[in-house]
Amino acid sequence: MDTKTNPMLAFIVVLLCLFLESRISFAADTITANQSLSGDQTVVSGDFELGFFELDGRHYIGTWYSRRVVSANTIVWVANREKPISDRFSAVLKIKDGNVVLFNEAKTPVWSTHLTSTTTSASVQAVLLDSGNLVLRAHSSSSEFLWQSFHHPAHTWLPGAKVAFNNITNQTQILTSWKNSRNPAPGLYSLEVDPNGSNSFILLWNRSKQYWTSGSWNASSNIFSLSPEMRLNYVYNYSFVSNENGSYFTYSLYDPKKVSPFMMSVSGQIQQLIWFTPSRPSKIFWSLPRQQCAVHLICGAFGSCNEKSGVLCNCLMGFKQKSPRDWALQDYSGGCQRKTNLQCGNSTSVIGTKYQFLEMHSMSMSENELHVKVGSAKKCESICLNNCSCTAYAYESSNACSIWIGDLLGVQELVADDAGGRTLYIRLAASELMHLQNGKGDADKRPLIIAMVSAAAELLMIIFCYFLWKKRLGKRRTQRRKYGATKINYGAGSGKNDTELPLFGLKSILNTINNFSEANKLGEGGFGPVYKGILLENQEVAIKRLSKKSGQGHEEFMNELNLIAKLHHTSLVRLLGCCIEEEELILIYEFMHHRSLDKLLFGISSFLLRLIL
Ligand SMILES: *[C@@H]1O[C@H](CO)[C@@H](O)[C@H](O)[C@H]1NC(C)=O
Ligand SMILES: *[C@@H]1O[C@H](CO)[C@@H](O)[C@H](O)[C@H]1NC(C)=O
Ligand SMILES: *[C@@H]1O[C@H](CO)[C@@H](O)[C@H](O)[C@H]1NC(C)=O
Ligand SMILES: *[C@@H]1O[C@H](CO)[C@@H](O)[C@H](O)[C@H]1NC(C)=O
Ligand SMILES: *[C@@H]1O[C@H](CO)[C@@H](O)[C@H](O)[C@H]1NC(C)=O
Ligand SMILES: *[C@@H]1O[C@H](CO)[C@@H](O)[C@H](O)[C@H]1NC(C)=O
Ligand SMILES: *[C@@H]1O[C@H](CO)[C@@H](O)[C@H](O)[C@H]1NC(C)=O
Ligand SMILES: *[C@@H]1O[C@H](CO)[C@@H](O)[C@H](O)[C@H]1NC(C)=O
Ligand SMILES: *[C@@H]1O[C@H](CO)[C@@H](O)[C@H](O)[C@H]1NC(C)=O
Ligand SMILES: *[C@@H]1O[C@H](CO)[C@@H](O)[C@H](O)[C@H]1NC(C)=O
Repeated sequence: MDTKTNPMLAFIVVLLCLFLESRISFAADTITANQSLSGDQTVVSGDFELGFFELDGRHYIGTWYSRRVVSANTIVWVANREKPISDRFSAVLKIKDGNVVLFNEAKTPVWSTHLTSTTTSASVQAVLLDSGNLVLRAHSSSSEFLWQSFHHPAHTWLPGAKVAFNNITNQTQILTSWKNSRNPAPGLYSLEVDPNGSNSFILLWNRSKQYWTSGSWNASSNIFSLSPEMRLNYVYNYSFVSNENGSYFTYSLYDPKKVSPFMMSVSGQIQQLIWFTPSRPSKIFWSLPRQQCAVHLICGAFGSCNEKSGVLCNCLMGFKQKSPRDWALQDYSGGCQRKTNLQCGNSTSVIGTKYQFLEMHSMSMSENELHVKVGSAKKCESICLNNCSCTAYAYESSNACSIWIGDLLGVQELVADDAGGRTLYIRLAASELMHLQNGKGDADKRPLIIAMVSAAAELLMIIFCYFLWKKRLGKRRTQRRKYGATKINYGAGSGKNDTELPLFGLKSILNTINNFSEANKLGEGGFGPVYKGILLENQEVAIKRLSKKSGQGHEEFMNELNLIAKLHHTSLVRLLGCCIEEEELILIYEFMHHRSLDKLLFGISSFLLRLIL
């Protein structure tokens, strides 16, 4: 057969050759001096695979769990974190002068192991070990490593690797978060060993500000004094070594078949992940610090952190995201900026000076508080008003006047009855404030604004409940009875933080609404009745029972979700949990007094729910 006469066949043959070449040349775990890695070629060892991967058009060399172990793309190490290349097919990774070097499309080295080598490069080889450690050794029988990726970790800590501090060279081996969920460049958060000799882990912001400590390691009881969850001694076997040369933590898994690494997340928490099966998303065993809002400056300047609403970061009213693109990738550190600039010190715009502060309740603000001694709220206000760089004040009782200069940092919204909550007055342009107040309209909308938590997050919960329900309906297994509320995890591995949604027992629901009695009924929407009930801790709740008939297919459901995703201005009351038992799908909402309740439950959300169900 003459391939020249058949261009199509020739093309297929070439493709096949390329494919075979790329797959065959590296069935091994080693790159020798006469080999190079390019395009889709990988080296494989144990549970790991090393090669090029792509994120939004940027290409990196890295290591990931092989698809056999974790089917989702799970990167555990990145070589050229800060120096992506634009085309993996014209870039190569190879041994050059005793180093592993990455050459970009212009044949310029962009990343290297940077050894001042004394060995002849002909025998030097790079080997991916079963542990996921990429090592460089002088020759194939050498047991000494010239260089190893475990000494240069990215955001993942694999079993056998060390988080270390070298007391001789002052060098550290630390985990650094990614910049955002799509960019492996080093972010602001890192996990380190406390160099001060306290035998603990610390989390640092920008390598400088400590915002969490594990507490010191107690070698006799194998426990960190402040973070008992890290013990979990049926999974991890920690060890801590400290001497005059330095100190390090390392760990192994009691069951080496378990897939459970540590990761420093984009959101500034250290997390233990676990995969139970390759195809299912990972679960988060624990995240530390426990409070996401305890992560230093997680929401940036003029951003406000909310632990409870389902949306972690929001801009303060009158502010907008500085970089919506970064926010969408879970990097909130850029914070927010004013929608309307202050006209401070501009004598031509004196209108409405008395409206220059927006009152916000149940807030806390951890950074840069200045205490001023004045005797009244009016004086406190005027001190702030008369200083153009003053952006907020708070006045509690006599002589307790606080002002903030410049950017507002570490702002947190607390729940209404939180003892740590205080009322902040935030300086806004008069026109912005008028705009906000006009926007509020009649008084009845206020609870609605409070309830305007992320529609997306609430929807996720509903969708989660829905899927769980469908699954159970499918299985029709005998249900375990649940009496109180059990917490279940969802969302792990989806990029968003693991949030807990309580799953209520049907029995406790039936009790509180007298077995769906008419007396407890608030009304009926197009797709199911709503009841009022009282749950644990005397919390008033609205209970929505979804009708049993739900003949929709999976595809229609997904289409409708897409539609909902496009409806941006939606709002729902806070969803407290759901109950999925015996063919019932019941959603439990916070009860809102006033008319807003039926507006929400029969109005907007019913519209959304009708779309879903
Ligand atoms: C590459 O080098 C190794 C030893 O360094 C040698 O055994 C092997 O035959 C070489 N392969 C090719 C294709 O030259
Ligand atoms: C390491 O740091 C200590 C204290 O900060 C300093 O005294 C010492 O000289 C440093 N050593 C090196 C090798 O930089
Ligand atoms: C270590 O101690 C020094 C001085 O005692 C202190 O300045 C520094 O902040 C400490 N570092 C950490 C990370 O605690
Ligand atoms: C982090 O620290 C460096 C100096 O160590 C500083 O230049 C940089 O601006 C800091 N980054 C942020 C976001 O504050
Ligand atoms: C370490 O743990 C043991 C046993 O729980 C306890 O008796 C001891 O006081 C602890 N040591 C420190 C320094 O906390
Ligand atoms: C735990 O780790 C230590 C140090 O690496 C090791 O000596 C010990 O055998 C391990 N224990 C188990 C049960 O694997
Ligand atoms: C680290 O080295 C310094 C001298 O450079 C020494 O004074 C200190 O005790 C060492 N730290 C530990 C934990 O041994
Ligand atoms: C510390 O390092 C020195 C020099 O490398 C070595 O001789 C010594 O044994 C080390 N000490 C410990 C406790 O490992
Ligand atoms: C002062 O305010 C006026 C009217 O709002 C505006 O035109 C002018 O640019 C402002 N001047 C400064 C210095 O901000
Ligand atoms: C505003 O207050 C800060 C802090 O008290 C002070 O440093 C600054 O000089 C003041 N600015 C003016 C214009 O008064």
